[in-house]
Amino acid sequence: MSISIDLSGQVAVVTGGGSGIGEAIARTLAEAGAAVAIADLSPQAADRVAKEIEAVGGRALGVPMNIADRASIDAALTTVRTELGPVSHLVNNAAAWAVKLFADHTPEEVERVVGVTLNGTMAVTQAALEDITAQQGSIVVIASDGARIGERYMSAYTAAKAGLLGFSKSLAREVGRKGVNVNAIAPGTTNTPGGAGFIEQAGGAEKLAKAYPLGRIGEPQDIANAALFLVSPLSSWITGQVLSVSGGFTMV
Ligand SMILES: NC(=O)c1ccc[n+]([C@@H]2O[C@H](COP(=O)([O-])OP(=O)(O)OC[C@H]3O[C@@H](n4cnc5c(N)ncnc54)[C@H](O)[C@@H]3O)[C@@H](O)[C@H]2O)c1
Repeated sequence: MSISIDLSGQVAVVTGGGSGIGEAIARTLAEAGAAVAIADLSPQAADRVAKEIEAVGGRALGVPMNIADRASIDAALTTVRTELGPVSHLVNNAAAWAVKLFADHTPEEVERVVGVTLNGTMAVTQAALEDITAQQGSIVVIASDGARIGERYMSAYTAAKAGLLGFSKSLAREVGRKGVNVNAIAPGTTNTPGGAGFIEQAGGAEKLAKAYPLGRIGEPQDIANAALFLVSPLSSWITGQVLSVSGGFTMV
């Protein structure tokens, strides 16, 4: 006997899929058979990941998308629908951050961090919701353990991510009867190009690992495995939840 996850015939959009956690999620959903749109601010990064997925037999498309720009979102989703079909699953992974004292955040930085991370995620979700509802699909929001317990020097980012937890729960209550589930993943510190600066500032991966009950920081694949579960039929009776994928760092 064996259990397998088969997403063939389904289209998944992964924002920020050109690097780090989003890249691992895109590869993993493609491995499970989904046609994956890698929607990223960097068209080069999106194309690279799409080509690498196709080279190993998967179906993927790189599309330029700035989640902070509704026109860019709509154009990207039109391309996805034409090339791959209607969207079944959306993984909201792209975000922006600033690592500094709260007192040193400029209004423009706060605007950028909240505008991309919170408002951008809501905008992509709104643009894809009709498709996802028609397909009875799922929405996954990549939040952060910092949104649950706080993270010093990342106040605007943490505020935006905490906003996403409220958004996910509210939307889950709204669309559940329509057959759509919405869940959030709260990663702990994860070894990615985007996380490198934070890891360095905190004294390195080995030092950080001491705070983790499971003795290490995260790898992108750790988060991708949880995302796969949350878009799969295995989680069909789970919605409005926040799953910490952080080696036990946060237990709530
Ligand atoms: N790495 C960590 O330690 C960590 C911890 C907790 C949560 N997270 C979250 O995981 C997610 C991925 O982070 P990562 O570490 O893999 O980052 P990363 O920098 O390695 O990758 C982020 C990707 O998002 C893209 N992107 C940035 N702004 C965008 C925009 N406006 N529109 C579309 N794409 C955009 C970038 O081009 C890049 O390809 C983020 O939501 C982050 O907040 C990361």
